[in-house]
Amino acid sequence: MRKGYFLTVEGCEGAGKTSVIERMTEYLSSLGHDTISSREPGGIDIAEQIRATILDKRNTKMEGRTEALLYAASRRQHLVEKILPSLAEGKVFICDRFIDSSLAYQGYARGLGIDEVLTINQFAIDNVFPDLTIYLDVAPEEGLRRIHARSDREINRLDLESLAFHQKVREGYLILAERFEDRIVSVDANGNMDEVFESVKEHLDRCIKPKN
Ligand code: TYD
Repeated sequence: MRKGYFLTVEGCEGAGKTSVIERMTEYLSSLGHDTISSREPGGIDIAEQIRATILDKRNTKMEGRTEALLYAASRRQHLVEKILPSLAEGKVFICDRFIDSSLAYQGYARGLGIDEVLTINQFAIDNVFPDLTIYLDVAPEEGLRRIHARSDREINRLDLESLAFHQKVREGYLILAERFEDRIVSVDANGNMDEVFESVKEHLDRCIKPKN
């Protein structure tokens, strides 16, 4: 039984997901919610192992459908081991990336097809869609500039894709935001973190009521 709230944060590289999730956690905790966050691909042991395989720079031969299936497998394990038990306990679960990453990256940008990738992910998530998805919309040039400016972040296999690929990912997200308009909200993430979080907060207030 799902008693908590399931929130996901999506966006291209360098959109600011990590900082937004930190602020969301702080804010929702201040409203009395037991709030937990995690990331995809990963979040638990088996999923972290799958993540290491997907993101390994040596795996240049990895084919698109293989990649999509591995993301879905990692998602399944994370869902049953961590997300569903947290929701059953009434927690707010914030996930850094979820199904929409697969739809935007593999479905649209890699050209596997949004509907095809949705189908394999339905098998993985069994209709557990987020209550609210915050898509942080940033110009791909700005996102890439931000990640390259950060010396502490290791560059992974997907970061090495071209600017054109990242532009396609953004296009994919914009298509999804229209198609799933009841669930996905698009937030302009080109500004500073205070401005971005102000918009995020409005959406949170609409979806989640204070507990205390
Ligand atoms: P990560 O280092 O977590 O990137 P970020 O900090 O931008 O979240 O690497 C995750 C990479 O995997 C990122 O490039 C997006 C990609 N990805 C997909 O292509 N499909 C997916 O389903 C997921 C969850 C991630």
